[in-house]
Order: sequence, then structure tokens, then C-alpha cells
Amino acid sequence: MTKNKTRANTKSPPRNTILHGDCLEHMAKLPPECVDLVFADPPYNLQLQQTLRRPNQSEVRSVDEDWDKFASLADYDRFTRDWLRAVRRVLSPDGALWVIGSYHNIFRIGAILQELDFWILNDVVWRKSNPMPNFRGRRFTNAHETLIWACRAKGSRYVFNYGSLKALNDDLQMRSDWYLPICNGHERLRDEDGVRVHPTQKPESLLYRIILGCSRPGQLVLDPFLGSGTTAVVARRLGRDWLGIESDSGYVAAARERLAATRPVAGDEIDLVAPVEKRDAPRVPFGLLLEHGLLRAGDMLSDPSGRIHARVRADGTLVARGVHGDVCGSIHQVGAAVQGVGACNGWNFWCVAPRNGRGDGAAAPVVLDVLRQRIRASREGSKAKG
Ligand SMILES: C[S@@+](CC[C@H](N)C(=O)[O-])C[C@H]1O[C@@H](n2cnc3c(N)ncnc32)[C@H](O)[C@@H]1O
Repeated sequence: MTKNKTRANTKSPPRNTILHGDCLEHMAKLPPECVDLVFADPPYNLQLQQTLRRPNQSEVRSVDEDWDKFASLADYDRFTRDWLRAVRRVLSPDGALWVIGSYHNIFRIGAILQELDFWILNDVVWRKSNPMPNFRGRRFTNAHETLIWACRAKGSRYVFNYGSLKALNDDLQMRSDWYLPICNGHERLRDEDGVRVHPTQKPESLLYRIILGCSRPGQLVLDPFLGSGTTAVVARRLGRDWLGIESDSGYVAAARERLAATRPVAGDEIDLVAPVEKRDAPRVPFGLLLEHGLLRAGDMLSDPSGRIHARVRADGTLVARGVHGDVCGSIHQVGAAVQGVGACNGWNFWCVAPRNGRGDGAAAPVVLDVLRQRIRASREGSKAKG
């Protein structure tokens, strides 16, 4: 860690590095609103009273580290409030937070999140395909953990790569119950004696879904409780920048070693897994089609069947014959009126006949959205040329 990586409130935050120490202290040194996505796996406050044993009397290694011990629930709540406030300060206005926990802590965290004006978007249940059995047989097998996804405030334009998640899920909408195995096999970090390096190492598959779905390549992902480095490893692999904070030097060393062995996927492949979602595409007002000469005042538009027609006026409004006389308004308003429905996306309803200059090269009418995409592409092209 170099000195200038921890300087207070520098203009840009450190990137792609692990800060060793307390997350409150380190977050206080970051500039405000510099982080795009936070994943937090905070202490659970398990409050284990006695050693847990398997039926063969071997000891179950659970979470009994000092970092998981708090004097009281009030103490834990204070800690939670402090780190959530710190996260809120460093999150960009359109940033979002994922936090994972068990029944011991997640309800307290959820309540404090709402107290602090975060806006909960979903809770996700991670169903473990291979949970640890309940050895005493006095309760249900604890087979899931809960994640809360919240944006910084109501109305934030948080990132949600809906299409990428759908593609990841065989073209089905991604649901809020995720069936994934716990971290095991080659992924699980172990020391020379085969003992797990970290008691709560999360599976990379869980972070893959979150980082792929809720950030864009190049954005900054922060994990204030980095542990064995899972968040950083997946962020690096997916071409995101990352920043991890961890108080235990042993875990910091393990995470650094793991990161050194992680290769990012190549640029083109990242583009494929995270295309720009339609919702995030730059807005193109209908009037731009006229200004760019793709449409002219007087041009006729039709519905896809060619039975309903509307005329384009110079100010970007349309006129059409409606059920109760002429209607005039935006492409959306007129589209809705001529169909007698409450709402219509005019970009996908109205079509225009091809003509020279529009450059369609097609005989069949094209839907307005095609012309809109052409404008977006020409804008992107001129941005790239500088
Ligand atoms: C539940 S574990 C995170 C495990 C991690 N997600 C992984 O996959 O390895 C919580 C981590 O937070 C660290 N920790 C606890 N309190 C901290 C604090 N105040 N500042 C920074 N790290 C802290 C602990 O050392 C522990 O490694």
C-alpha cells in the first residue's frame, strides 16, 4: 500500500487495491460519491455460546473470530449504522448497495438501511444447494442467506443490466431466489494443512451475478469487509475497478495472492456480457429525426399493418384522424389515441416508408426506433472520434 493511496479526500479514490485496516477509517478518507457499487458481507454477530460438534464428535468450524463479537445488539446496531452511513457518503447518487446476512443480522441491517433513506429494490434469497446440516436436530437446516439490494435514494438511476441477467439465465427473467452452492472445492482457500483460510468465504458465482447485473465495465466496486477477496476477484475478472478494505492482515495476504492469480476477461467478451441496456441509452427526442433530415414535415407514418396513418408536422407533433375527429400530439399520444388505448410507445408503433436520404435501403416500412438507433450510433461514432 503506498502512501498516496490513503491520502484523505483526494480527488479520485484508490482503485484496484486492498486497504488494510478498519473500514470506517478508510472510508472516511475517500472522496464523497466516488463509488458505483458496494457489496458488503459484514460481521454476522452470531453470538455462538458453545462449541458445535458433528455426530462423530469432530468440531464444526463456525464463525467464532473476534471480528464477529459485539458486546450487545445495541453495540452491533451502532456499528451497522456507522458503516452504512460511511457507505452512503461514498456512494454516487446513482450507486447501489448489496448486503448479505443471515437471520442473526439481516433484519436489523434492513431496518437501519431504511432509517438512513436507502431505497430497497429487492431482497434476494440465496438458497444453498449444499448447506451444512443442523447437527443438533433442534431447528430447521439453515439453508439460505438473504441479500438486500438497495439504491442510495428513492429515484436513483441505479444500474440493472436486465438483458445480461436474462441471457445468463437461459433467456428467462432472473428471479429473486438464487440456487447456488456454498464455496467449496478448488475455489475454497485452504492453508498447507487443508484448513479453510476464511470461515465465511462467499462463492464467486454469487458475486458474478451481482457485479455483472448491477455495474458496468470500468465502474468502481467497493467491498468494505473484503475477507478472502471474493468481490475483488470477480470484479477484476469482469473488467470492473475494485477497492477492498479488510482489518485482518492474514486475510489481506490471502486475498492479494488470490488476486495475483486472477485474469480479467478480454475486452470484447466483457462488452458481450454487459451490453448497454435500452433504459440507459442516451435519450433521443423525436424532433431530432426532423433536425437530422431523417424525416420531413409532411411525411406520412403508418401503423405496422399500414391501415392507420398520421402526418408529421414541423414541430415534431403528429396529426391523425381519430375516432372523435383529428388528434394532434406526440408520437406516443397520437399512437395511443388512434388505437383507443391508454398508452403507446410511439417509437415501436409508427413506421415510415423508406426513401433516399433516410438510407434505409429496404423496401418495407421501417419502425421509427430504427431511425432512433441510427442517430444514437452516429452520436457514439462522433464521440469515439473525439
Ligand atoms: C463475513 S466476512 C467477509 C467474507 C468475504 N465476503 C469473503 O468472501 O471472503 C467479514 C470480514 O470483515 C472483516 N472485518 C470485520 N470488521 C471490520 C472492520 N471494521 N473493518 C474492516 N474489515 C472488517 C473481517 O475480518 C472479515 O474478514
